[in-house]
Amino acid sequence: MRTVDLIAKKRDGGELSQEEIAFLIRGYTDGAIPDYQMSALAMAVYFQGMTPRERADLTMAMVDSGDRIDLSGVTGIKVDKHSTGGVGDTTTLVLAPLVASVGVPVAKMSGRGLGHTGGTIDKLESVPGFHVEIDNEQFLELVNRNGLAVIGQSGDLTPADKKLYALRDVTATVESIPLIASSIMSKKIAAGADAIVLDVKTGDGAFMKKMEDTRELAQAMVDIGNRVGRRTIAVISDMSQPLGYAIGNALEVREAIDTLRGQGPADLYELSLTLGSHMVVLAGKAADAEEARRLLEASVASGRALETFKTFLAAQGGDASVVDQPERLPTAAYRIEVPARSEGYVSGMAAERIGTAAMMLGAGRATKDSEIDLAVGIVLRKKVGDRVRQGESLATIHANKEQVEEVLENLYASIAIGSQPAAAPPLVYGVVEGQDGNGGIR
Ligand code: URA
Ligand code: CA
Repeated sequence: MRTVDLIAKKRDGGELSQEEIAFLIRGYTDGAIPDYQMSALAMAVYFQGMTPRERADLTMAMVDSGDRIDLSGVTGIKVDKHSTGGVGDTTTLVLAPLVASVGVPVAKMSGRGLGHTGGTIDKLESVPGFHVEIDNEQFLELVNRNGLAVIGQSGDLTPADKKLYALRDVTATVESIPLIASSIMSKKIAAGADAIVLDVKTGDGAFMKKMEDTRELAQAMVDIGNRVGRRTIAVISDMSQPLGYAIGNALEVREAIDTLRGQGPADLYELSLTLGSHMVVLAGKAADAEEARRLLEASVASGRALETFKTFLAAQGGDASVVDQPERLPTAAYRIEVPARSEGYVSGMAAERIGTAAMMLGAGRATKDSEIDLAVGIVLRKKVGDRVRQGESLATIHANKEQVEEVLENLYASIAIGSQPAAAPPLVYGVVEGQDGNGGIR
């Protein structure tokens, strides 16, 4: 096999075989195939696309390029959830204890990453003492005992994806549905998922801004999962405005606690119930989404979901008293309100720009090595559709510096106020399932 022939084949619209894809990914991972050839291939894929079979083969070739997490020691069906990312997306913090509390084992490997706020681990580390430096054996034992544990990235998972994603980033080939879908799915499969619930976000604050692209990506990922024996469902959810009210690490932990108590933002609770219901069904703990939803609601009402969160925090060294006394979480030195300059109705929010404003306060990392401030962030007081009076606060800025002019101006520029009543956007646009309508059970 010659790499140049395979590039030409894809360039001319041909279909690569499983062996050819495996050859390319193996060669690229071990250095036999240079960046310039892989760049040409990525560009050929960008223009020619890939068949569903090629996408599945590419995914598994990337899974095979490195280590896999072995979760066979965990009893039950391991259902993982993945979000394509958004602003103030607090769902993992709510979902993990919520579904664990009804018997769905959650063995979560998580990262820190770049973004408007930190990753799930950063957020959880705002609980004093909480840490993810546990060994594999302990990790599995905690999941079996408490239903939930979180561990930091370990092993060398999907090195082919790491290398290819970095290459795509500098060769204008990130925006390719087959490449995005296989990149995301390979990481989930290598992390040990038996089944996967995807939260594919759409709108200004999402990776996919247009509905058509969002649907196509969701369909591609669901198809890959089901082809490779992982029951997969995607929920398409709104990211035209931030989710919930809080954007920031400790602020989102607090919001998650409120939500687990049944007193959180309606959109965050609703999305958690929607995603959670699918997780519960895929884990075999309920016959259908309605039954699953009732189980989850009952767990919140009885306090069991919150109790599961406490047990989980304490088991990993965290001070679980923050759940009842959230003032023990890191708090910022300054709170600055953002009074509305006019009255009317919130007609739109530039989610991405609000996220960037939170990052400017120090809530997220701009580069791999930036320090993150767990206390700071933004708590919205209004969302799209809400009525506002002049002088009423649109948001509270939690800052550790006095000078927040730029953040303030960014917030004013991001929150549009119109004179006519505006409708809140829908929260869930649809669910994409396997072709048999059953998450692809065969
Ligand atoms: N996120 C990923 O993990 N991979 C992509 O290719 C794009 C977004
Ligand atoms: Ca939030």
